[in-house]
Amino acid sequence: MTSDRLIIFDTTLRDGEQSPGASMNLAEKLEIAQALRDLGVDVIEAGFPIASPGDFEAVRAIAREVEGPIICGLARCNDEDIDRAWEALRDAPRKRIHVFLATSAIHREFKLKMAKEEIVRRTVAGVQRAKSYCDDVEFSPEDAARTELDFLAEVVEKAIEAGATTINIPDTVGYAVPTQYAAAIRYLKENVRGIDKVVISVHCHNDLGLAVANSLAAVMEGARQIECTINGLGERAGNCSLEEVVMAIKTRNDFFKLQTTINTRRLYPTSRLVSNITGIQVQRNKAIVGQNAFAHEAGIHQHGMLMHHATYEIMRPEDVGFSKSNLVLGKHSGRHAFRERVKELGYHLDDEQLNRVFEEFKSLADKKKEVYDADIEALVERVIHRGAAMWTLEAFTCNAGSGTLPSAAVALWRQDGTIIRDAGVGDGPVDAVFRTIERITGIDVNLKDYHVRSVSKGEDALGEASVEAEYNGRTYRGRGLSTDILEASAQAFLEVINKIAMKRPGIPSINPAHLSPEERPDPGV
Ligand code: KIV
Ligand code: ZN
Repeated sequence: MTSDRLIIFDTTLRDGEQSPGASMNLAEKLEIAQALRDLGVDVIEAGFPIASPGDFEAVRAIAREVEGPIICGLARCNDEDIDRAWEALRDAPRKRIHVFLATSAIHREFKLKMAKEEIVRRTVAGVQRAKSYCDDVEFSPEDAARTELDFLAEVVEKAIEAGATTINIPDTVGYAVPTQYAAAIRYLKENVRGIDKVVISVHCHNDLGLAVANSLAAVMEGARQIECTINGLGERAGNCSLEEVVMAIKTRNDFFKLQTTINTRRLYPTSRLVSNITGIQVQRNKAIVGQNAFAHEAGIHQHGMLMHHATYEIMRPEDVGFSKSNLVLGKHSGRHAFRERVKELGYHLDDEQLNRVFEEFKSLADKKKEVYDADIEALVERVIHRGAAMWTLEAFTCNAGSGTLPSAAVALWRQDGTIIRDAGVGDGPVDAVFRTIERITGIDVNLKDYHVRSVSKGEDALGEASVEAEYNGRTYRGRGLSTDILEASAQAFLEVINKIAMKRPGIPSINPAHLSPEERPDPGV
């Protein structure tokens, strides 16, 4: 099936969520699914329903609430997985079951311990079962890129006979190189009966940094679905980046001559949203959505840009959703101008959210002369995602300097309305604040990463602190934003603590020393 329409299959919520530390809760997944719909993706792979009750609920909620794209759920080739996927998907107006089974020799021998005949038998049974529920069935021979081509062709042909409508060829471990991967697609097109009746899809991992190149090479051989993720999130080094592959197709339309339905102006806001929710930052020089993607530093480039933007710019920043004007509002700006700017940046806030962001904007504008788009985006995202936190920072002070013992006093507001105060010492002021927060909340984490960056320009720029910490073998990330980097750090740390507290229902998230005698757990229990 070769046409000039390229299907964009987004797997941010499934493969993307498999990035270490990127796990999301149901509300966050729904919000991303809605953003993906607004972006114009064709298919949303919403999760792997058998993987956990949380995954199941998220796929079901997205199937019920997100209309427009096809909602897809992943399943291994066994009845239990497929039934569970169907259960989660059944209410979606448009749905797809995606079944997979590994085919490469290394997976057959060491992971599955199955002979080739067994792989073929299970593939057929899996596709048939999925087909008994749903017309739209995708089959993936996992690790296809390392599978013997004749065996790959045999499995794919049997999957098509059994009813698969999309055949996905994953480069599961990011091992392929463009010409070889393209040759594999050509081989399948030439050797598999029925292949012209289905959509050929590609799913490339980025272990060698070739995921986008491999996907585009496959498209040149007739693949018409690309599986990709926002910001290239995914297992290990990630998946093919949606924004990169879409902008390559659009910018080099003279070469690819293909169309997608992506509203490219939503790329940057969607990238920001995903980065904010997962806590995984986008590298500054990342193509398309990195902060430097459209920044021109060298004088000779700036001069060329002034003469004609196309001298050094192959895409316009506004085409991917970077705003045209960067300098925006100040403390005299009114609510109306603010609301308009927020809308232009692509956010739909209700009145209550807008009021909250506007208040924060006003207090920021008091501290900072010029408020940039990046500041506003950061404020909006913080307000939208703060949610019902167990702990909020009420106040803190720090004492540090040479020859003194760094110390901090912190007051936290607990969800039940009580304010708890404590003080502690640390190796530096930030460490003292973090340790005091741990003392108050009773949650001791293993700090893995901490850094601070400036969100916009100028000496009075907002600082964004990011914290990554481990607790009970899981990684949690938090971000904080303030003109005071110590406050931003405390907020980022508290976000981590709040995420952990949410995961331990029933356990009071507080140091027992701070509980009233009636609240303290019975020592005999
Ligand atoms: O990388 C992979 O092989 C996958 C499959 C489940 C499609 O993610
Ligand atoms: Zn994958």
